[in-house]
Amino acid sequence: MNKKGFIFDLDGVIVDTAKYHYLAWSDLASELGFEFTIEQNEMFKGVSRKRCMEILLDIGGITATKNQFDTWMVEKNVDYLKYIDKMDASEILPDVVRVLDFLKKHHIPIALGSASKNAQPILEKVGLLSYFDTIVDGNNVTKAKPDPEVFLLAAKQLGVKADDCVVFEDAVAGIEAANKANMVSIGIGDKNILSEAQYNFKDFTEMDAIFLNGLLAGK
Ligand code: G6P
Ligand code: MG
Repeated sequence: MNKKGFIFDLDGVIVDTAKYHYLAWSDLASELGFEFTIEQNEMFKGVSRKRCMEILLDIGGITATKNQFDTWMVEKNVDYLKYIDKMDASEILPDVVRVLDFLKKHHIPIALGSASKNAQPILEKVGLLSYFDTIVDGNNVTKAKPDPEVFLLAAKQLGVKADDCVVFEDAVAGIEAANKANMVSIGIGDKNILSEAQYNFKDFTEMDAIFLNGLLAGK
């Protein structure tokens, strides 16, 4: 059996930070004089901060100078940090810890593969940092998902071949990135939205030990 590696996305897979991103982006939108809806927030999942800012300005029909663009992006993040500052272990999504414990018990290397530049403080706040052998996030990559860079780098840092990695993702762009990296892609969320994933689960509560053992034995 080849050595396996598991890669977790953060936002929407380990914790539901999408709601805090939404609050911070909608605070900024209202300051700029328009409404940003929860439906529009779907487009922001898995997407880099800079790209989110561009989409937000498109929605509001606003043209910004480079200076304004950068200032607003910082402002949004400062606001977001205020929300995540209050996070604790109660915000870990159901059965994430069970799956992490299962992998630890089997001595499987675990990576984080996220677009967020706030990944490390969030993992610290919710008390999960020690589970991760390596963290690849928005600070380490140049190409955003759906480019596979983040997952390929995570595999490299784990010392596991890309073919032997399994990825948990809640964003369409993330599933596309995992598929491009030739990894097993597991969609966490709505299977109609994540239809390109190899396997789909509403959340980790649906993922039993038989399935997890199958992943360890697979390929
Ligand atoms: C994740 C989220 C996105 C967010 C991105 C950057 O991928 O799903 O909604 O825009 O991270 O997050 P950051 O914390 O760096 O602003
Ligand atoms: Mg995500």
